[in-house]
Amino acid sequence: MAVQALAQEAAAPEEKPLPKSVTGEKVLSVQHYNDTLFSFRITRPDSFRFRTGEFIMIGLMVDGKPLLRAYSIASPAWDETLEFYSIKVPDGPLTSRLQHLQIGDQVLLGKKPTGTLVLDALIPGKRLYLMSTGTGLAPFASVIRDPETYEKFEEVVLIHTCRYRSELTYGEKIVEETVNDEFLGEMVAGKLKHYTSLTREEFPRMGRITALFRSGKICEDLGTPPLNPETDRVMICGSMAMLNSCAELCEESGLNEGANSKPGEYVVEKAFVS
Ligand code: A2P
Repeated sequence: MAVQALAQEAAAPEEKPLPKSVTGEKVLSVQHYNDTLFSFRITRPDSFRFRTGEFIMIGLMVDGKPLLRAYSIASPAWDETLEFYSIKVPDGPLTSRLQHLQIGDQVLLGKKPTGTLVLDALIPGKRLYLMSTGTGLAPFASVIRDPETYEKFEEVVLIHTCRYRSELTYGEKIVEETVNDEFLGEMVAGKLKHYTSLTREEFPRMGRITALFRSGKICEDLGTPPLNPETDRVMICGSMAMLNSCAELCEESGLNEGANSKPGEYVVEKAFVS
């Protein structure tokens, strides 16, 4: 009798119903890149629809309550599973726990994806610049793996600036997989360019995105003309300071901000999770 009671007690937390706004998904894989960054994949419910580049609330049950944060979905809309790229903050309420995820663990997934880093929020153009710093790369891991991106743009330039070398690893892996992919490879060949730079460790390309554009270095390295509202479209994702600086750069070049309701020449999204 006592044994049975104990067993029931032990099973109790598992049976606690989830809030209606989320589903419980299973972790399929976890990959760590350094002390501060990791990615993981979870199951995707059949009913979960999203547009490439959107974000969603994800989290864990903590002390019987859902602890949720907005995360960009790093996988494209056609993918059967969902991928996320995350920072690990030692005392961050959610990431301090998420970083210990193991295969089979449960992750809470929201039901209402949303966001502005979507192709629909941009008016047609020739060249798409994806400007990212740190984990701001996540939505672009989705965008560069969607065939629609290459149907709409002749050239796609993924720019990723980080402080240190090891922070570039995830982006390099995604680009390499995309280029070598059986189906996407042909589509992205000659169209997808990956431009990386660092700000706090020796590297062939040093400096912030804004500085590299203003000095003409990025365009010189890529063989592209200066930012031009006639041909260029921009998506921006990083810290609040970076968003403001890159938005300013776009405005200076004559590009106007777009939104889902009114497509424009550039779009921005905050990518902060602690
Ligand atoms: P820096 O090392 O010069 O601060 P963070 O981790 O602070 O979000 O920074 C990630 C990357 O973004 C770093 O390379 C950082 O450069 C760069 N960065 C920070 N603020 C800005 C900004 N306002 N404009 C452009 N890049 C920025």
